[in-house]
Amino acid sequence: MKYKKHIFVCTNERNDGRECCGEQKGMELVACLKNLIKEHKLQKEMRAQRAGCFDTCQHGPAMVVYPEGVFYGNVSVEDLTEIFNEHLVAGNPVERLRIDLPQ
Ligand code: FES
Repeated sequence: MKYKKHIFVCTNERNDGRECCGEQKGMELVACLKNLIKEHKLQKEMRAQRAGCFDTCQHGPAMVVYPEGVFYGNVSVEDLTEIFNEHLVAGNPVERLRIDLPQ
């Protein structure tokens, strides 16, 4: 099955003292996204799942939306609702939350 939107949320946990998205924060975002998708009955069109580190750790919690490949950082649960409504449903990426991938 090909989804119209496939969202990966970093749930990586580091133990070496460097910044990270953290399993707990990441999993909270994944659960919240899954709920939004279910509430709107969009399970056939969208999928949210956990992912490993994107190397954007200083901007955690981080996530990426495919097929566009748009990365978001410092995402809170409130931000997620905005990303869901504006980007995933309406198709307009939320510019203020976008981050660039390290070169
Ligand atoms: S720990 Fe999440 S991007 Fe690296």
